[in-house]
Amino acid sequence: AIDIKSLRGETGAITLDPGFKNTGSCESAITFLDGEKGILRYRGYSIEELAEKADFLEVVYLLIFEELPNKQQLDNFKNDIIGQSEVNEDMQKVINGFPSSAHPMGILSSLTSALIAFNPKSVNVDSEEDMYKAIVKILAKFPTLAAWTLRKRNNQALNNRDTNLGYVESLLKMMFEKPGEEYKLDQTVVDALDKLLILHADHEQNCSTSAVRLVGSSQAGLFASISAGVSALWGPLHGGANQAVIEMLEEIQNDGGDTSKFIAKAKDKDDPFRLMGFGHRVYKNFDPRAKIIKKSADEVLDALGVEDPILDIAKSLEKAALEDPYFVERKLYPNVDFYSGIIYRAMGIPTEMFTVMFAVGRLPGWIAQWKEMRLGKEPIGRPRQVYIGENLRSFKQLENR
Ligand code: ACO
Repeated sequence: AIDIKSLRGETGAITLDPGFKNTGSCESAITFLDGEKGILRYRGYSIEELAEKADFLEVVYLLIFEELPNKQQLDNFKNDIIGQSEVNEDMQKVINGFPSSAHPMGILSSLTSALIAFNPKSVNVDSEEDMYKAIVKILAKFPTLAAWTLRKRNNQALNNRDTNLGYVESLLKMMFEKPGEEYKLDQTVVDALDKLLILHADHEQNCSTSAVRLVGSSQAGLFASISAGVSALWGPLHGGANQAVIEMLEEIQNDGGDTSKFIAKAKDKDDPFRLMGFGHRVYKNFDPRAKIIKKSADEVLDALGVEDPILDIAKSLEKAALEDPYFVERKLYPNVDFYSGIIYRAMGIPTEMFTVMFAVGRLPGWIAQWKEMRLGKEPIGRPRQVYIGENLRSFKQLENR
């Protein structure tokens, strides 16, 4: 282990590493990732095994509390979450202030931040007990806020969690229930969403997680840190890629389905277009999550009886890219979000909501990383810079400029 005290930044030398491509920001015992071999593990368990055998709440517990829960621990955890699931009614005024055209991620980030006003004690979390309370609160209320962003978009009345249903089931019900109609859960959809949430649950020091740890390092509190994570996730180079992938595939479809034109555009250095859902900062061989999701996409569409020509376009685009020296040389492979949108679409989730679903999945990872950072008493995050601006200049009065 590194002795933090020996690294007081008094060395005089500064490492310049834009994008932190080779700079570690912390020690972490949560997620292991080997980008060359395509390995991803949460707390030592392989992502393949967790996706197949665990359910989302077990993974949430594992990430945050370090071990898989036994039955009693899981039941207590579930009950604690249910006990905190109601969202203060005044929060509805906050969301009702948004136009229904607002992007769900913008609303989600604002609501997460607004939640602090209704739970002020969640900020000072000096004891592990306070920390636990704050963690349970955000886990309990976040799915409701996520579902509300969809209801707002559809101009539907806001609702609260059905406490008789599980975490994932109740999320779906909150999103899709309509007044006067009984909402019927489809087990295929529940299982597929559960798996997607597990696959997205943590990914070590990615952009949004680093944002969460950085904001948290100022002791701004868990909800403020999570709100920052939501904003960071929104970008198309990060979590927003799942929305961007479907928009790109739709564009290819509307253009007649010829993928070669888009491959050429992605290779053209004068064109800002990138193949969305391709490439990853760390995975340089394959993204193990993408492998699982690609298989799931076939299974889910089959089980739901959905025929989506976009899946065929995605497959032919992947094939063409993987045969193209540009993508091979740069080690660009489909990432987790290349196929996830196709599954969300088959579930009837609108494209603008995809990144919100990702945020629900990533929430436990953000929490686990924030908790690790706080308990490890990490110092405030404060990168240095290399100044390249002007030397000292004399001020000129306005009339002389
Ligand atoms: N399409 C075309 N070219 C690409 C792509 C792409 N999707 N991704 C990278 N490249 C090229 C770059 O232009 C660069 O080429 P060059 O060496 O000739 O200049 C080279 O591959 C290396 O790319 P970088 O941008 O330096 O790689 P970086 O690690 O900084 O970026 C990123 C990784 C952001 C994921 C990038 O691959 C990308 O923009 N992908 C598309 C967006 C996407 O799918 N994001 C989701 C990532 S997964 C997640 O966050 C959940």
